Amino acid sequence: MANGGKILVTGGAGYIGSHTVKLLQSLGLDVIVLDDLSTGRSDRVSCPLIVGSLSDRKLLERIFHEHAIDAVIHFAGSIIVEESVQFPDKYFENNVSNGLNLLDIMVENNVKKIIFSSSAAVYGEPHYVPVDEEHPKKPVNPYGETKWVFEKILRWYAQGHGLSSVSLRYFNAAGASLDASLGEDAPVVTHLISKVLRVAARQEPVVKIFGNDYKTPDGTCLRDYIHVEDLALAHHLALDKLKADSGVFYYNVGTGQGRSVAEVVNTCVEITEKMIPIEYAPRRPGDPAVLVADPTKIKTELGFVTKYSDLETIIRTAWVWHKKLVRH
Ligand SMILES: NC(=O)c1ccc[n+]([C@@H]2O[C@H](COP(=O)([O-])OP(=O)(O)OC[C@H]3O[C@@H](n4cnc5c(N)ncnc54)[C@H](O)[C@@H]3O)[C@@H](O)[C@H]2O)c1
Repeated sequence: MANGGKILVTGGAGYIGSHTVKLLQSLGLDVIVLDDLSTGRSDRVSCPLIVGSLSDRKLLERIFHEHAIDAVIHFAGSIIVEESVQFPDKYFENNVSNGLNLLDIMVENNVKKIIFSSSAAVYGEPHYVPVDEEHPKKPVNPYGETKWVFEKILRWYAQGHGLSSVSLRYFNAAGASLDASLGEDAPVVTHLISKVLRVAARQEPVVKIFGNDYKTPDGTCLRDYIHVEDLALAHHLALDKLKADSGVFYYNVGTGQGRSVAEVVNTCVEITEKMIPIEYAPRRPGDPAVLVADPTKIKTELGFVTKYSDLETIIRTAWVWHKKLVRH
């Protein structure tokens, strides 16, 4: 990075953050993590870890005073859509107010580059698919709203304070590191592949499939899964972008391929060689039939190419990791 400064990674003890930290360190970058360990785990972090929250402005001041920070990658946040509907206050506080603390400290310390973990949830119900970056933003839950509000805040901070940003709108992050050293280990399991693998491992009795009467080839929803190691790479490319250019940038991070819930379950059966009982349940409100990225922009502007995001590699790496987790 420019200035040879450090990269502060908020939420670097979490699922996507820990993979990104591992990649950046392997590329020789100087990284520190700030994480309150609310869902992250300290044993996932192989660089200096400061345990604390973005709500603690004094701590933020100290970090920026003590370290020559050149750029921030901001993963920290609350991520469960259903919980956000129940407790919108928690989501606005953590994803917006606490994020503002970070931006203000950055401005005070003249740190001008940030990469933000945004989400496909900013788009809401797709009007067309694949969804490109110009698709209307109409989030259908507080989680998606907090991501969109924060993206808009970043635009105003660019104008008012010269802050440059890349918002990466992830689709469905999945899989585990190829060496099985890191993977998903959330206290509350909400992502489909982890849920299916829990059933394969007999930790849960059945996979509930919400809706099998959608207008899709097999009647179940289609989603765009991106391997977490590919996703980590997108952050490195985003850092390079901010090294070369200033401004406000935003990209979808997905593959452009939709895979159905039924395909995910069938591929899990093949890879795990386990019985995976399923049960059909009614559709969930706010679940679109198809949510697939148009990834053209990140490919052409940042040269992003996915290497591991085929469903087989995603599930194979997640299964190796899952078995390791269950053993411990
Ligand atoms: N997982 C996905 O498919 C997905 C999709 C779209 C966007 N995202 C976004 O990517 C980011 C990372 O997601 P993840 O799946 O790795 O989740 P995660 O829960 O594993 O990681 C979030 C990390 O942030 C930390 N954290 C939360 N609030 C904090 C605070 N106030 N101060 C300091 N640390 C705090 C947690 O302890 C955790 O380590 C989130 O912002 C999420 O909204 C994830």
